[in-house]
Amino acid sequence: MKTTSTHKKKTPLVIGNWKMNPATLEKAETLFNDVKKALGNKNTQTEVVIAPSHVHIAPLQRLAKKTSLSFGAQNASHEEVGAHTGDISLSQLKSIGVTHVIVGHSERRALGETDELVRIKTEAVLKNRLTAVVCVGEKVRDTQGDYFSFVESQIKSLVVNLKKNQLAQLVIAYEPIWAIGTSLHATPEDVQEMKLFIQKALTHFFDRNVVSKVRIIYGGSVTKDNAKELLEGGHADGFLVGGSSLKASEFAGIVEISNAYAKE
Ligand code: PGA
Repeated sequence: MKTTSTHKKKTPLVIGNWKMNPATLEKAETLFNDVKKALGNKNTQTEVVIAPSHVHIAPLQRLAKKTSLSFGAQNASHEEVGAHTGDISLSQLKSIGVTHVIVGHSERRALGETDELVRIKTEAVLKNRLTAVVCVGEKVRDTQGDYFSFVESQIKSLVVNLKKNQLAQLVIAYEPIWAIGTSLHATPEDVQEMKLFIQKALTHFFDRNVVSKVRIIYGGSVTKDNAKELLEGGHADGFLVGGSSLKASEFAGIVEISNAYAKE
C-alpha cells in the first residue's frame, strides 16, 4: 500500500509497562539491570521508556545513569497537593525524573476511571509539561463496527479542551482490551485502520499537519515475533508493552526491531 503523509515515520516510542511487577525492589533492580544489558549501549533509534511501580522509580533511576532510558509512571493524580491519601502527584513524579505518564489504561478504567477523569488527568499531565500516553480501545470487536464509535467517543472526550501546541506531548496508545495479556493481538490491518480512524477523529479538532505529529502506538500482546509486522504493516509509531517487558531479552528484541524499522 502506498503510504500517505499521515504515515510519515516518527521516532518510535517503546514503553515497558511493568504493571504491579516484580514483587520486590531487589527483583525490579535485577530486571532493570537485565534490560539495560540486553539493550546494550548501542545508539538507539527508539525512545525507550520503562514504567515500573511508583515506588521503584527512584531507585531504578539511580541504575539508569549513562543510559538513554526514560521513566514513565503508570498513573498519577491530577490534584496538585493536599489531602489525597494514597495519591501521587505529577510534580512529585516529575521531581524524581519521570517524563511520561500513562493515563486511562484499561486496568484503571476498569476500576472506575471515566472518560472525563482521563481527560482531566491528561490535561494535568500536559500542563506539567510531561508526555501523556493515553490509552483507548474497545472491549470487543463486533461485526457492525461499533468499536469505532466507542474509540471515537474516547478520543473526542479527551481532546476537547486541548490546544494544538499541546499535541506534541500527547501519545495515543491504541490498546484493544481483548488483546491485553491474552496473546491475541490486533492484525497489522486492524492497527493501520484504527490509526487512520483516530487521526480522522482528531482532525475534527485540529489541522491535519498537527494531527500527523501525534504518535499513535499499539499495545496488546506485543512480542518480538509480531513487532515487525505491526510496525511495517500497521504503521504503529511504537508500542506499549506489558507481559513482554518483564522479559529482558524479549523487550530488547522488540526495541531492536523498532530500531531497524526506524533506520529503514
Ligand atoms: P500486554 O499488556 O502486552 O501484556 O498485552 C499491554 C498493556 O496492558 O499495556
